[in-house]
Amino acid sequence: MSKDKLWGGRFTQPTDKFVEEFTASIQFDKRLYHQDIRGSIAHARMLGKQGIIPLEDVEQIVSGLRKILEQIEAGEFDFSISLEDIHMNIEARLSAAIGEAGKRLHTGRSRNDQVALDIRLYLRDEIVEITTYIDLLIDSLLNQAEANLDTLMPGFTHMQTAQPILFAHHMMAYVEMFKRDKGRLEDCLKRVNVLPLGAGALAGTTFPIDREYVAEQLGFPAITRNSLDAVSDRDFALEFLSDASILMMHLSRFSEELILWSTSAFQFIELSDGFCTGSSIMPQKKNPDVPELVRGKTGRVYGNLMAMLTVMKSLPLAYNKDMQEDKEPLFDSIDTVKGSLKIFADMIREMRVKSENMAKAAGQGFSTATDVADYLVRKGLAFRDAHEAVGKAVAYCVEKQTDITDLTLAEWQLFSDKIDNDIFACCTVAASVNARNIPGGTARERVCAEILKVRAGN
Ligand code: ARG
Repeated sequence: MSKDKLWGGRFTQPTDKFVEEFTASIQFDKRLYHQDIRGSIAHARMLGKQGIIPLEDVEQIVSGLRKILEQIEAGEFDFSISLEDIHMNIEARLSAAIGEAGKRLHTGRSRNDQVALDIRLYLRDEIVEITTYIDLLIDSLLNQAEANLDTLMPGFTHMQTAQPILFAHHMMAYVEMFKRDKGRLEDCLKRVNVLPLGAGALAGTTFPIDREYVAEQLGFPAITRNSLDAVSDRDFALEFLSDASILMMHLSRFSEELILWSTSAFQFIELSDGFCTGSSIMPQKKNPDVPELVRGKTGRVYGNLMAMLTVMKSLPLAYNKDMQEDKEPLFDSIDTVKGSLKIFADMIREMRVKSENMAKAAGQGFSTATDVADYLVRKGLAFRDAHEAVGKAVAYCVEKQTDITDLTLAEWQLFSDKIDNDIFACCTVAASVNARNIPGGTARERVCAEILKVRAGN
């Protein structure tokens, strides 16, 4: 009957079997076992210190919980659907093992503040782990940047050749993105790292608890300041899911470039065999599965953010069972982001750069046309007039099926009498790149300095 339930007192009929399954969260929240036990130990110690429960009970509770932890980690713990969630599975097992003392553990606490605590403890560790994966990826990018300080490539806008850049500069653009992702997660961590325990079901508790003591034991620098908010707030999870979405968006853009660069049309890079698969019909195929999947998984991480925002959007204060739906999207995004970062760090480290192909492409598509316009500005022309003159030169080349780098001085002078012999040195790809010697520019010197700065932790 309902007497096996920890909340069974006011019930006379058993729970419908399917309802039991439908309402349970143990299938997925068992992942929180470590945090749940850690939180319970801190809570029990506080209850003992405050004289709310006997100290002998605290000792029994702590050793009982430690045993349960060992059992779970040894795979010897039988999780039960009828005990609904991780909190009641552990508490019921504790009471079964140690009797009366176990039944005192939940004094001055509710599952509502307990679950908020567990998620915060869990997410806190995961965020720290994710930032270490970001560091690994940044390190791979820095290695590629260092190895490619002389690798020229075409930079694109509208996917059309725009201006030559260094491949190192391109890699460092991603370093900037992932550094921001790390910063966002570190900022999110500040709001995750607040102790909600003590809020009780919603209004606080009648017992003289010491929340600061619990916070100290669990390493929380702050405690929540409103009990209603403490149990109904999932902003910290939403923030994480938003940060995860932006991070995946970055990985997805990178994936798209890797896929494009490995096509036979581009041939800018080759991903190592370990990160690709073949086709069951076309013998020549080497498919960039890893970046394709990361691009695809970005969709589910966005979906998790949308799911969670939608779960929360019309919930009245305080806790509502809807909020049990917070865990699967959160866990899924954590797993997806970690996996994607880890595989990317390795893939980028092993990526082979085909610098000759890149350099060749860098000189195509009139990529140094802006340099000629700038040259004319330095010779006294207004930029708009310079732009017009070079535009005409490009149209002339298109017509003649030639390149601006192949024009003779006489041909150049058809477009401006300010053009002299020094034009030839200014419109090479290498000159174009090195001329962009301003902070944030693609000149070798600048990119080198950026790499050193990031390596030094700035
Ligand atoms: N399993 C629940 C959850 O994940 C724990 C909190 C349940 N609270 C309650 N009042 N039913 O949200």
